[in-house]
Amino acid sequence: MKLHTFLTFSSFSAAALANPAVTPAAVADHQAIQERAGTTPTPTGTACTATTSPAPVNSATLAAAVAGCVGIQLAGTNDTRNDIVNKICKPFTLIFARGTSEDPNLGNIVGPPFIDALNATFGTNNVAVQGVNNYPASAPEFCIGGSPEGSQNLAQLISQTRTECPNTKLCVSGYSQGCQVVHNAASQLSATDTAFINSVVLFGDPDQGKPVGKVPSYKVSTDCHAGDNICAGGETILEPHLSYCHDVAAEAAFAKARSLASN
Ligand SMILES: *[C@@H]1O[C@H](CO)[C@@H](O)[C@H](O)[C@H]1NC(C)=O
Ligand SMILES: *[C@@H]1O[C@H](CO)[C@@H](O)[C@H](O)[C@H]1NC(C)=O
Repeated sequence: MKLHTFLTFSSFSAAALANPAVTPAAVADHQAIQERAGTTPTPTGTACTATTSPAPVNSATLAAAVAGCVGIQLAGTNDTRNDIVNKICKPFTLIFARGTSEDPNLGNIVGPPFIDALNATFGTNNVAVQGVNNYPASAPEFCIGGSPEGSQNLAQLISQTRTECPNTKLCVSGYSQGCQVVHNAASQLSATDTAFINSVVLFGDPDQGKPVGKVPSYKVSTDCHAGDNICAGGETILEPHLSYCHDVAAEAAFAKARSLASN
């Protein structure tokens, strides 16, 4: 994916540029999270502060988190795929919900690297990709448990995949707030649509440990790093929440194994 455009991003700091794995996308993502933090009450009335203490997120933190990853996308690249909307069927389909403040519709620091890994695992011509649309991925919606409109769009896309592409193996995936969207959407599905899901892959899940609708747990792979406060039900963005690009190959292998399973 278009990593060369990285070099044209002039406002990125020289120090960060010294590490080619640190991208403006990731830095911008963090800045946006920090800027939006602390503004929205949760439904229970307690503050959703999304604090960055005790370990502030900065470009050095990002550098450590994504060092060595390939496929991360620049802020503003707005990497978008709409294969299901466009009725493009392939043997394998990924529907992906991005994290808070990431660009539509595939995000920056997990979605595009995951797709690259799926391309490599299944073969580029065998992979259809659909991002969740009508989904602001805003911090306030993280604070209320995940975007309601994004969740509704994802549920509709799952149903549409089953009717348009009945022979595809469907993987439903999300990162951060995108995982909340996956949980919410799954709880809205019919039994038929639920059964159509072949695998679920969750990176940095705020709802870790909660069911994914009625999807059986053997179909679900949840990646939560030690020390990821978001996975622990908190609101603090720490380095372990930013480094899921390192897990995409393993999760692509999980999706492949699921696609070959008989149930
Ligand atoms: C990219 O996404 C951002 C965030 O939603 C939006 O503000 C911007 O207009 C988009 N840019 C393009 C070229 O679509
Ligand atoms: C995956 O393969 C498709 C089809 O060749 C390509 O367009 C895309 O850039 C590849 N990678 C990602 C991250 O989409």
